[in-house]
Amino acid sequence: MSDDEIDVELEARLEEQEEFEPPEAFVEQANVSDPAIYDDFEENWPDEWERAADLLDWEEEWDQVLDDSNEPFYEWFVDGKLNAAENCIDRHLDERGDEAAIEWVGELGETRTYTYRDLHREVNEFAAALREQGVEEDDVVSMYMPMIPELPIAMLACARIGAPHAVVFAGFSADALAERMNAANSEYLVTVDGYYRRGDPLQHLEKAREGLDKVEQDATTIVVDRLGDDSEIDPLPEERDYDELVEAHSGETVDPVTRDAEDMLFLMYTSGTTGKPKGVKHTTGGYLSYAAWTSHAVLDVKPEDTYWCSADIGWITGHSYIVYGPLALGTTTVMYEGTPDYPDKDRLWEIVEDYDVTQLYTAPTAIRAFMKWGTEYPEQHDLSSLRLLGTVGEPINPRAWKWYYKHIGNEECPVVDTWWQTETGGMMITTLPGISNMKPGSAGPPLPGISADVIDPSGDPVEAGRAGHLVINKPWPGMLRTLYKNDERFIDEYWDEYSIPERDQWVYFPEDGAKIDDDGYITVLGRVDDVLNVSGHRLGTMEIESAIVGVEGVAEAAVVGGDHEVKGEAVYAYVITEDGQEESDALRDEIIEAVEDAIGPIARPEQIIFTPELPKTRSGKIMRRLLEDIADGNELGNTSTLRNPDVVHDIQQKVHGD
Ligand code: WT7
Repeated sequence: MSDDEIDVELEARLEEQEEFEPPEAFVEQANVSDPAIYDDFEENWPDEWERAADLLDWEEEWDQVLDDSNEPFYEWFVDGKLNAAENCIDRHLDERGDEAAIEWVGELGETRTYTYRDLHREVNEFAAALREQGVEEDDVVSMYMPMIPELPIAMLACARIGAPHAVVFAGFSADALAERMNAANSEYLVTVDGYYRRGDPLQHLEKAREGLDKVEQDATTIVVDRLGDDSEIDPLPEERDYDELVEAHSGETVDPVTRDAEDMLFLMYTSGTTGKPKGVKHTTGGYLSYAAWTSHAVLDVKPEDTYWCSADIGWITGHSYIVYGPLALGTTTVMYEGTPDYPDKDRLWEIVEDYDVTQLYTAPTAIRAFMKWGTEYPEQHDLSSLRLLGTVGEPINPRAWKWYYKHIGNEECPVVDTWWQTETGGMMITTLPGISNMKPGSAGPPLPGISADVIDPSGDPVEAGRAGHLVINKPWPGMLRTLYKNDERFIDEYWDEYSIPERDQWVYFPEDGAKIDDDGYITVLGRVDDVLNVSGHRLGTMEIESAIVGVEGVAEAAVVGGDHEVKGEAVYAYVITEDGQEESDALRDEIIEAVEDAIGPIARPEQIIFTPELPKTRSGKIMRRLLEDIADGNELGNTSTLRNPDVVHDIQQKVHGD
């Protein structure tokens, strides 16, 4: 048989195969490989969760693993005391002081290595600087930074002094920054003059300043110099320079502040169904234990690994699985500033080869792009250092899963498809790579200690294969504790959507649809609320709609997600103009600009469809599902119950042409 024929055969086998066993060589060395772990957690719940807490160093042990006396305001590792920065840095100094903590690869090809000792030094210096700037315990420090080492350094400096951080994704707009800083009442901002994209400098400080202009409170601003001579913006006298501050505190150390397990470690704003982002509160003890535990059990992180998560630290994935999880375990975490196709489409594979990366954790949207580019790019590199592959952020289609398994993992690496959310703090549903068989397209069973179901509207578990709502039945250490300063919304959004009297317990609703198979494997189907998932980024349709209706000449708008080959979902905006307003390209541009100003380029509509009417039910509700079906070119069901069925054909024609 020629190589080509073998390949075709292999391809056919992969196409058919529905279940994959964990590779033996992996199992032999896996952190977790005894299936008894599932029973252990079940029989000894919640105390078995001490396994997670035991991965950390505590200044004082907890008195109680779980306090559930005030549902759903659960508390974990009650009265335990610890410091997150101490756990991520100091405790590794003796054994791993000279080992790399962060390997940073810049967009221009420059690299920086921070050993644990380097990280310790700079985090201390910056912590001292923050103190000098007036930051006190429990003050919220905002960060609006791209993927540069100063971002995790600033986060850890905050953790050291007990000041929660609130990182805002650098791609978000000035308005989005202001909204978050206002909501958190944050009086400090760490930002950057700019960064590089595809080799070109991108000025960032102007955007940060524009945001600051809309912040109600005074805010002390610290600016990292990333661009050097490429910066087009002169610093203002009141802006502090990061390097000067660190220099001024050279050699200083700051004792890690003792924090209660339940003290806030950080806030992370995420999109919901209303126009207002939700400030998800994560804690020091529970969150950090959970990030460390899942990194250990699912990502199989060991100190001697070089582990790489290609997410952005501006999202929860980067918090848990670039910064806190891997550093808590004392490993080497890779951080890449740039895009996967610059200078060429083999950039990621080049980095894997250069650094002998052992685990790669990325998103299905990236994998779909790699597939499109072709196997010639990974084939140019030696990827044999890889031991495990992971995906996160959206459902992965079996074809993409198999491509990743074969062409990146050489059928030797388990693939973990990890379902979780900003709110869950860490992974919830996935196979354990050293134990369970993998089924492409299905995330897997809930992790040990996690209790999940798929239920119908009356609260009963659905039959295998039927779609229902995903629910989590028991609390877990990494869970959000509340929405910042909004306990009421916390209950409304997650716990109170359906009341299920037969269930004598609080049930967490992630707002995802799912199905479950006979083996208890859960396939997550996507959001059931008005939240979109564009390239793994979470966007609220209401936020986009309110930006659009703010444009002069627009009367009404409905935003839905349409299928997209690479992005997973894309933004489709159906827009009704006011009487007399022309449907013009100029208006289209204004709408795009308004969305970019309110949220950022990630929310840019793929298509804007002007329509005289939106399809509505007799009671006046917009039929979003129908608009989605139109975007996807699906066969439409019965539309005769609409108040205005005639409009459907017109809209279809506008979206797809004649
Ligand atoms: C939503 C959460 C988890 C960190 C990144 C996104 C979707 C996430 C998967 C997966 C299917 C997934 C869900 C979830 N999602 N992972 N493996 N399979 N869907 O965090 O921005 O809070 O978004 O992402 O719909 O609710 P997020």
